[in-house]
Amino acid sequence: MKIIAFNGSPRSGGNTELLLNEALKPLQEAGHDIVLFTLNTMDFKPCQDCGGCTETGICILEDAMTGIYSAIREADRIILASPIFFYSLSAQAKAMVDRCQAFWCEKYLLKKIIPAGTHGRKGLLLLVGGMKKEECRTTAETTAKGFFRTCSVPEHETLFFGGVDAKGDIQKHPTALKEAYEAGKRMGE
Ligand SMILES: Cc1cc2nc3c(=O)[nH]c(=O)nc-3n(C[C@H](O)[C@H](O)[C@H](O)COP(=O)(O)O)c2cc1C
Repeated sequence: MKIIAFNGSPRSGGNTELLLNEALKPLQEAGHDIVLFTLNTMDFKPCQDCGGCTETGICILEDAMTGIYSAIREADRIILASPIFFYSLSAQAKAMVDRCQAFWCEKYLLKKIIPAGTHGRKGLLLLVGGMKKEECRTTAETTAKGFFRTCSVPEHETLFFGGVDAKGDIQKHPTALKEAYEAGKRMGE
């Protein structure tokens, strides 16, 4: 299967990355084709709301999103991992999600959905926040749900770990890494 994963954290070696690596482990072990996008290192603009995609479903900007659009089209599984920043996805993750407005136009205006392969399409959302507030999960998840459905991913699973703040703290969480591994394994099914 083709698996794509987005790391929305700017903190290299941070909690999001550790969690995402754990979810990817069983997929690597099973020999799936995995492409990881570390969004903070990629050069792309936020959506300019130029209307360029309205009639075609194709973004007119030429930047690193071009490769991401192709990868999303071909993906059987999409994993989105982000820290909670101000009760939502990080700016890095949100900028990528906003650029999927092109897919929104394709799906909802032009009435074309991205066809699924033989394995169907599934998503996994991984969220880490410093606070233990349920609003952090629900706000970020609402945005992520919009992203998944827009990219024609009909179902996704969410893992949210609150109270995880300092770099590496996720390793002290009693179940987080194991839960991420198990969720990754389910993505491979
Ligand atoms: C700009 C910024 C905003 C943040 N806002 C929130 C927030 O609203 N809610 C929360 O629970 N944690 C918030 N945090 C804490 C991070 O979610 C937390 O430190 C997380 O573990 C970072 O993950 P990372 O190591 O993958 O970057 C914020 C951190 C930063 C830097």
